[in-house]
Amino acid sequence: MMDVVNPDIVLTKQLFGDDFAWGVSTAALQIEGSCDADGKGPSIWDTFTRKRGRVLNGHNPTIACDFYNRYTEDIDLVKTLNIPNFRFSISWSRILPNGTGEVNQAGIDYYNNVINYCLTQGVEPWITIYHWDLPQALEDKGGWTNRDIVGWFSNFAEICAKNFGDRVKNWMVMNEPAVFTGAGYFLGIHAPGRRGLRNFLPAVHHVVLSIVAGARALRKICPGAHIGNTFSCSHIEPYADKPRHIDAAKRADVLINRLFIEPILGLGYPTEEISALKGIDKYIQPGDAADMRFDFDFIGIQNYTREIVKYSFFTPYIGASLVKAEKRNVELTDMKWEVHPPAIYHMLKKFDAYPQIKKIIVTENGAAFPDAVVDGRVDDPKRTKYLQTHLQQVLKAKQEGCKVYGYFVWTLTDNFEWAEGYHPRFGLVHVDFETQRRIIKASGRWFAQLLG
Ligand code: NOJ
Repeated sequence: MMDVVNPDIVLTKQLFGDDFAWGVSTAALQIEGSCDADGKGPSIWDTFTRKRGRVLNGHNPTIACDFYNRYTEDIDLVKTLNIPNFRFSISWSRILPNGTGEVNQAGIDYYNNVINYCLTQGVEPWITIYHWDLPQALEDKGGWTNRDIVGWFSNFAEICAKNFGDRVKNWMVMNEPAVFTGAGYFLGIHAPGRRGLRNFLPAVHHVVLSIVAGARALRKICPGAHIGNTFSCSHIEPYADKPRHIDAAKRADVLINRLFIEPILGLGYPTEEISALKGIDKYIQPGDAADMRFDFDFIGIQNYTREIVKYSFFTPYIGASLVKAEKRNVELTDMKWEVHPPAIYHMLKKFDAYPQIKKIIVTENGAAFPDAVVDGRVDDPKRTKYLQTHLQQVLKAKQEGCKVYGYFVWTLTDNFEWAEGYHPRFGLVHVDFETQRRIIKASGRWFAQLLG
């Protein structure tokens, strides 16, 4: 059977090889707090979370995990957990409060401090240039729907490369483009809360051009850098073995898994399955084809679950809907996502099958479960099991020849989970958001042991 892993194999890091990058991933908006400190400008998430009813329980990222002030303590935790690689993102509006124009030196100094502290602790910094926190000043000019953003973004990427590229070797240009364009510019459930194809399609195209422009800027300024981009992906299965559900699953696969990776690999937009996507042609200008592809050193995949897809007459444009995991009598995480470890194996195989991809790194995988502090300890066996069973699937793919060379857990500390606020706890380390006290969870101790 495809999905079976050998239960007798005891996971050790050696099984994955010496050239396998082990890490933990974070993002600026989700951990830093200090949303207006030292000259930082507002991001779309600062604005969005102030609007009523947008984020669960009215939570906001103003303080978050206070990483801005506690980065030494948290990088010490990365070291304590034996994790060699730490992924974090740069807040665009900390560096450029208005998105363009004058650089805020305090922002540069802050990230220099974070990078330098990592290096003195023997932790390798991995930077994501953009993890969803667009400067509000740029959203006011149309954000990702305005083609000028390609220039604004490559300027920001250049500033990052020039200031940090002497010490940072590993870079990811953008995080999960399908999620921030889909949730932020089509469904309106993430910042900036825009909806509809007329926002989504230009945003998609400008994001593709920007990923390539940003990657080229990095390559030019830091020729030896290890450059990637991260992509969300979910294993998709049709609800039943019927042509209408199989076709619906194919359309969902386009939006969830193929829309961004394929143009970037030089394959163009996968518009043949969903006619509404053809509207993107309107935003493509002569010469764009050459500026939509980049030869990345690695592709980051971020997988959490699988989706079951059903034909749906009433869902506009795609005629498909997801069958909620809650209705399927399966094990759920606190995000109401199905726990289905073979999903990550299938995604590794799927991305591995693109001959243009040289190397894959799992740049995020992890789970939110309700945690309780009892006698100063957090025992979270479900999270440990989730990580173990997913790693077994990664190993299976690797042993079958899949070119996967890294695995980063999402995430270090419990943090601000976007529209879900502070409710879902994904961390290896528990955070009491009243006191900012950190407690390493049992899953964190397990991961430390694996990497020890
Ligand atoms: C994807 C995103 O990159 C990250 O920001 C988010 O918190 C996790 N997945 C969990 O949903």
